[in-house]
Amino acid sequence: MRWPSSRHFCLAVLAWTHAAGRVAAQELSDSQVSQIRSRLAEVALKSWELGTRAQVLLELDAPAFSVFSPNPLPPPHEIPSNLTGLISSVMSIARNVVGGRAASNKNATGPQPLMQDGSAADPASIGIAVLLANWTGQGGQDYAGAAKDQLDFLMQRVPRTDDGAISHRVSEVQLWNDYMYMVPPFLAYYGVLTRDKSLVTEAYNQCKLYRNYLRDTHANNLWQHILLGSFNDTGHWSTGNAWAASGLLRVLATIQHSEYDNQFKHEKSDLASWTTEIHEAMYSRMDNSNVFPNYASRAVNDPGNFYDAASTALLASTVYRLSLLWGTHRHLPFAERSRKTLFTNSSNHLTSEGWLQPVVNPHSFGEQGQHSPEGQAFVLALHASYSDWVKDGAKGANAAVRLSVVGMPWLWACLLVGIVFAF
Ligand SMILES: *[C@@H]1O[C@H](CO)[C@@H](O)[C@H](O)[C@H]1NC(C)=O
Ligand SMILES: *[C@@H]1O[C@H](CO)[C@@H](O)[C@H](O)[C@H]1NC(C)=O
Ligand SMILES: *[C@@H]1O[C@H](CO)[C@@H](O)[C@H](O)[C@H]1NC(C)=O
Ligand SMILES: *[C@@H]1O[C@H](CO)[C@@H](O)[C@H](O)[C@H]1NC(C)=O
Ligand SMILES: *[C@@H]1O[C@H](CO)[C@@H](O)[C@H](O)[C@H]1NC(C)=O
Repeated sequence: MRWPSSRHFCLAVLAWTHAAGRVAAQELSDSQVSQIRSRLAEVALKSWELGTRAQVLLELDAPAFSVFSPNPLPPPHEIPSNLTGLISSVMSIARNVVGGRAASNKNATGPQPLMQDGSAADPASIGIAVLLANWTGQGGQDYAGAAKDQLDFLMQRVPRTDDGAISHRVSEVQLWNDYMYMVPPFLAYYGVLTRDKSLVTEAYNQCKLYRNYLRDTHANNLWQHILLGSFNDTGHWSTGNAWAASGLLRVLATIQHSEYDNQFKHEKSDLASWTTEIHEAMYSRMDNSNVFPNYASRAVNDPGNFYDAASTALLASTVYRLSLLWGTHRHLPFAERSRKTLFTNSSNHLTSEGWLQPVVNPHSFGEQGQHSPEGQAFVLALHASYSDWVKDGAKGANAAVRLSVVGMPWLWACLLVGIVFAF
């Protein structure tokens, strides 16, 4: 009597989980994407916000010109006519920044950042768009000269540690994990476009040096936020860990799609394993909310700590990218959980106007903020990377299925009931 009913119950559970799995494939609608993009355009003003916006818009609108595309680098010199409209926001960023450079830098000549900033690193994030504007022959500005001045500024003017880590700050030697997204990807891209292998090597070395300083072996390899200099933030800022993972991957992708692919085998494998190391460190801290606290190693209800959807979005995007680039699928289940949570309307992580929430105030990293320019870009990065992963056949998706099965007590109960009644 009991056996058939248990079996039917189990079949019902299986059917329900299957259906739930399909319904749970939450995705952003086109209108949501366009709202998020508009909000981003309204609030991205600081150097790294412009640089991040440019790089994310390439992923979203003109993937063939993003370093994550499987197409070879350097990209074509000519932008296909059906992409000129789509890529125009990125080119506007390059044009406005280079056009405003003299005013921003008080008519300086020679080595100088693309924009004035207390950070030595952040303006370099715009360098990718500026290099691409030069490469694709956009007129009206000296893009090559501006990119070279930015490079020379980093290489010749910014202070370094004794072992060569370029400072994140202009006024003193100070290392921030944010640097990883701002500088190494620019150096690698510059090296690949100008066929200067030493710059590609420098990009890798900067990653290695920064990891040596900031990785905290007492915290399961989370990276600390700010060390050296007149103050520090020894906490494990979640956004900084996501910046680091994303920067490592951009360098990996740039090398992998370039002529240097075969000459940097061990460097590439380091970059991939350092990214996985951050995934492991971060996702082992994620609770059932599927959203990281602002400081990953502190309880979310610690005074001053709070949930931060921005770092959650950027880190999840790096999981899809690592899966696509390197075939490491291990943390996809976590990324899927975060993505579904952020993209589900009922969770209210995206307002009806397209704002991501709750978010850290990126201009004051210990405080919760209203809106986050970089956070708006991170949602688009998550959407773009997830879409690319789906288009590529969602490889490694069964890793996600495995985890949800492991975490499903009903299925285990059914299995047990089955075994008991089989005897
Ligand atoms: C642009 O045109 C090419 C073929 O010429 C096509 O492969 C590509 O998908 C088109 N891209 C967009 C965004 O329409
Ligand atoms: C920069 O040069 C322009 C044009 O030559 C001039 O009008 C402006 O006053 C200069 N700005 C500074 C800060 O020197
Ligand atoms: C600028 O573009 C030209 C033409 O494609 C290329 O030869 C040059 O190396 C580029 N310069 C930089 C700094 O990328
Ligand atoms: C961080 O700064 C504090 C206060 O200035 C100092 O006591 C501490 O030693 C610093 N920690 C590190 C790891 O530099
Ligand atoms: C979520 O809400 C947005 C408007 O805020 C709407 O465009 C979208 O279709 C909704 N998605 C679902 C799955 O209901």
